[in-house]
Amino acid sequence: MTLNKQQFEKNGYLIINNFNTPAECDALMKRGKELAEAYDFDGHPSVFQTTNQTKTTDDYFLNSGDKISFFFEKDAFDENGKLKTDLFHSMNKIGHGLHDLDPVFNSFSRSPQLQQLAKELGLEDNLIIQSMLILKHAKIGGVVDVHQDETFLYTEPNSCTGFWFALEDATIENGCLWAKPGGHETALRSRFRRKADGGTEMEMLNTSAFSMEGMIPLEVKKGACVVLHGLLPHYSLPNTSGKSRQAYSIHTISKTARYPKENWLQRNMDEVKGFFN
Ligand code: FE2
Repeated sequence: MTLNKQQFEKNGYLIINNFNTPAECDALMKRGKELAEAYDFDGHPSVFQTTNQTKTTDDYFLNSGDKISFFFEKDAFDENGKLKTDLFHSMNKIGHGLHDLDPVFNSFSRSPQLQQLAKELGLEDNLIIQSMLILKHAKIGGVVDVHQDETFLYTEPNSCTGFWFALEDATIENGCLWAKPGGHETALRSRFRRKADGGTEMEMLNTSAFSMEGMIPLEVKKGACVVLHGLLPHYSLPNTSGKSRQAYSIHTISKTARYPKENWLQRNMDEVKGFFN
């Protein structure tokens, strides 16, 4: 077993510094900003739909698996539904099909070093089920509550593995990830699923609270890759600093695991590809 695999299995996460070059990080951020600025905001469901707002925003989210969709910070809008700042700096994230639909994101998501790392971890046959550009802008970037990624990308057996790429330095001040070494040795708490009659719900599988004791900040430099086990509880605090904290993440699942139709993210599974195509 490689040292990386040993570390990952012991801690439930793995940090690899200098995984991507600064130029690779910059190219991804540049492309993300271009996509954001080209977005037709006037057609966004959060702006014009005054009736049945919840359903409309739910549908936008639920249909984003095979698209490039734009999600806003909850504090981005004023009481009239207008943006308080420019379009790009109002966004929380872009997802969830960037890795398949955009050439720049595609090559970042299937880089030679990532293919090599996937092999070292024995995950070379995994499928990349989703991608997100997480913007976490200065002052406005919001909290991400403690969760397990398997909650959102549930498979039988559990197989979700995340790869999180720091496109900028991630520090306590700008809202780095927090997790506990070995924290993945715990039960899956919940499963986020589509309801039969539309919308979504959180199904509780285990009601014990996450232990926050021993959580440590995973402060990393631009270019680092953090691999996250699907059962590892993790979170990030709001970005209260003056520096943005952009990150890109992809989530992968085992090719042989069952991916339920009730999962919020649905794609034509025949089109979901791995690290090598
Ligand atoms: Fe997560």
